[in-house]
Amino acid sequence: MAVTKTNPAVPFTLAAMLLALGACATSGTDAPYEGNASMGMLIARDSCASCHAVSLGGESPNDHAPTFREVINRPGMTADSLTAWLNEAHNYPTEMGVHLEPHQVDSLVAYMLRLRSEQDES
Ligand code: HEC
Repeated sequence: MAVTKTNPAVPFTLAAMLLALGACATSGTDAPYEGNASMGMLIARDSCASCHAVSLGGESPNDHAPTFREVINRPGMTADSLTAWLNEAHNYPTEMGVHLEPHQVDSLVAYMLRLRSEQDES
């Protein structure tokens, strides 16, 4: 008896949960997305650190992969050129094998800019 009475509530609960999820997703879009350096650090540690040194110290695990400090401190490197490079996945060395969404690229670039040396080392 009680079971037949509670049954109709199940779809309602599901719908309410979906609505709640939808509400979360929508409130996130109120502010335009900006590259988030903390998120970029997580992506770097998760997806890039197996080959690249992704923080201020250390050497790359993969001898062929430049450290992120080297990349961002390279003469002429700008946030724009790095963004363009990362968005053009066909430039990647085949061994890199990563796929990045544009918002992940923005976050990675925001993070990598933090690795830039304060002073000119010349
Ligand atoms: C499986 C190893 C591997 C992984 C994982 C990897 N890379 Fe690389 N990456 C390389 C190698 C090797 C090179 C150097 C290729 C060359 O110089 O020809 C490179 C080069 C680069 C360069 C330098 C391009 C330039 O101007 O020379 C950037 C920037 C870069 N990777 C970013 C990333 C990012 C961001 C991630 C994570 C999302 C990542 N890589 C993950 C192996 C990897």
